[in-house]
Formats: sequence, C-alpha cells, structure tokens
Amino acid sequence: MRIDKLLANMGYGTRKEVKKVLKAGIVQVEGEVIKDGKTQIDPEEQTVTIRGEVVEYKPYLYLMLNKPQGVISATEDNEHQTVIDLLAFEHAVYDPFPVGRLDKDTEGLLLITNDGKFSHALMSPKRHVSKTYYARVRGEVTEGDVLSFKEGVTLEDGYVTKPADLTIKQSGSVSEIELTITEGKYHQVKRMFEAVGKKVTYLKRCSIGQLELDETLKLGEYRELTDAEYSLLMKDE
Ligand code: URA
Repeated sequence: MRIDKLLANMGYGTRKEVKKVLKAGIVQVEGEVIKDGKTQIDPEEQTVTIRGEVVEYKPYLYLMLNKPQGVISATEDNEHQTVIDLLAFEHAVYDPFPVGRLDKDTEGLLLITNDGKFSHALMSPKRHVSKTYYARVRGEVTEGDVLSFKEGVTLEDGYVTKPADLTIKQSGSVSEIELTITEGKYHQVKRMFEAVGKKVTYLKRCSIGQLELDETLKLGEYRELTDAEYSLLMKDE
C-alpha cells in the first residue's frame, strides 16, 4: 500500500495535507525517513511513525449513514450522486461500498464498509437479519394486513414473503406503519404493500438487527460505528 494512502486512511489529512507531512521529513518507516508518497509499505509488517509516534494501522472502516432521497446505493453511477460521493476524503480512501441497497427514494440507515466479510454476514439470506422500516402508505392499513404480512403475502412475481411484523401507527386514508422483515428482496416493502392494494409514499429504514439509526444524524450525515454497535451486529457470528 502507498504510504500517502495509508496516512490519509489513518486520518492524517487529505492527499494534499499528507504530501506536506511527508515533505516535512517527519515520517519514518522502520526508522528511515520517507518523503515520497508513492513509497510502497506493508502496514501489517512495518512500523510507521510521525515525529516518533507510531501510526496505528486500522484496515477496516464501518460507517452508518442517514441516507437522503435522491442518492444511489452504489459506488459509482454515471448520472446520479452515490452514497460514496457523500463521504469525506479520509473515508472514501478506504474504497468502501454500501452493505446492500436502499432505493433511490428511500431514506435512513445504510451501512458502508470495506469489509467484505462483515457485509456478507449481514446480507446472507441464511442469517435472516431483521430490518425495520417506517413507511407512509396511501390507503387504510388494517388488522387484516397485519395478519396477511404475518402469514406471508404473494408478490406480483409469485414469490411468497416470509413472516413479517407489521405495526399500525396510524390508520386512515394515509396510514403510518412500522414493518420488520427478515429478507431483502428487490423493492420488498413497496411490493408487499402493492400485494395488499396499497402504495408506499415514503420509506425510511430505522434499524438493522439490533442497530438503530442514530437520529442525531441529519439526512446525508454519517459517523463511524462504535465498537459496541459493531458487536451488536456481529454477535451471532
Ligand atoms: N424495501 C423497499 O421497497 N425499498 C427499499 O429501499 C428497502 C426495502
């Protein structure tokens, strides 16, 4: 790995700032001053210091984002802004990717990481990690729908959904609900409501497993997961 990338990853500034740090001659690898940002190093094997202080190497990044509408859950897109475009340089240099997808018009909790194992553990259909959504729905959501969702509804392609937990928060011509599902089919929540003749007009993911969205994050804001939050998600691994 290039030394400039390592230092940027570890939070020692933007690429430009890192260049300055290197130029100042205060960075050493195994005791030898390194000024060229292109120098390849092995952070697992070699000790890097800045002014004599050891740079701790952290290979993985785990972020929770409050995804706004209008951005795509992908790493690249020719037309639209992606969730990765919302990240600061010091996080983007980890080459992270979103864990699963939220639709362009869905808001809320999205995890972003560069740890493939972590992502796979959460996405694996075998693990049935639950996801809870808040939705506004056009049409009156009824106790009948609660029962139907518990038993499983048939989507338009014939797929029968796994039991899901529907709570009605407010019922009327526009209803408010919370829905917990344990699978992640394409447009699943929207299609489940279509299966009972209703339309989701607003959708937000509130939690994944035991991890809840930090409501102090404004739309488009993100932060690193704490160790405790990471453990919550990985506890069955
Ligand atoms: N279900 C949907 O319909 N859309 C999402 O973004 C997530 C779940």
